Amino acid sequence: MHKIWIIHGPNLNLLGTREPETYGHVTLNELNKALLSQALPQHAELLCQQFNDEGAIINCIHQAKLQAVNMLIINAGAYTHTSIAIRDALLGVAIPLIEVHLSNVYAREPFRHQSYLSDIALGTIGGFGTQSYHLALEAALHYLSSHS
Ligand code: DQA
Repeated sequence: MHKIWIIHGPNLNLLGTREPETYGHVTLNELNKALLSQALPQHAELLCQQFNDEGAIINCIHQAKLQAVNMLIINAGAYTHTSIAIRDALLGVAIPLIEVHLSNVYAREPFRHQSYLSDIALGTIGGFGTQSYHLALEAALHYLSSHS
């Protein structure tokens, strides 16, 4: 059974009410439920977690190594554009990862065009709202079934 962890970064606990014109109306709880139902028939073990703190995200990434997680799907929120520490944690555990964004960061402010994660990820999916996560999960499942 493949173990996949989804890490939601800062402010994603506000999903559903936070800038809905950019991030949509689906809450984090609704999104996580939908992702769990997507994973269930695929016999994948999925854990979805959200953290506002950079250090908590880093600790979670370290835990993923100890728990022999096969794939990380991460929306690091604004830390995507700033956090060398999260990048280093991901490099340190060497778990394959997929970067996700709800919005198309390249169609937004220039400071969102920089990502410390894109070049160390298998791929990046963004711009499709919550569907970005479903596409990432599908890609993760496909990758793991063809690389084991
Ligand atoms: C985001 C894009 C980031 O620039 C922003 O800081 C977020 C959400 C997205 O999912 O579109 O918090 O990662």
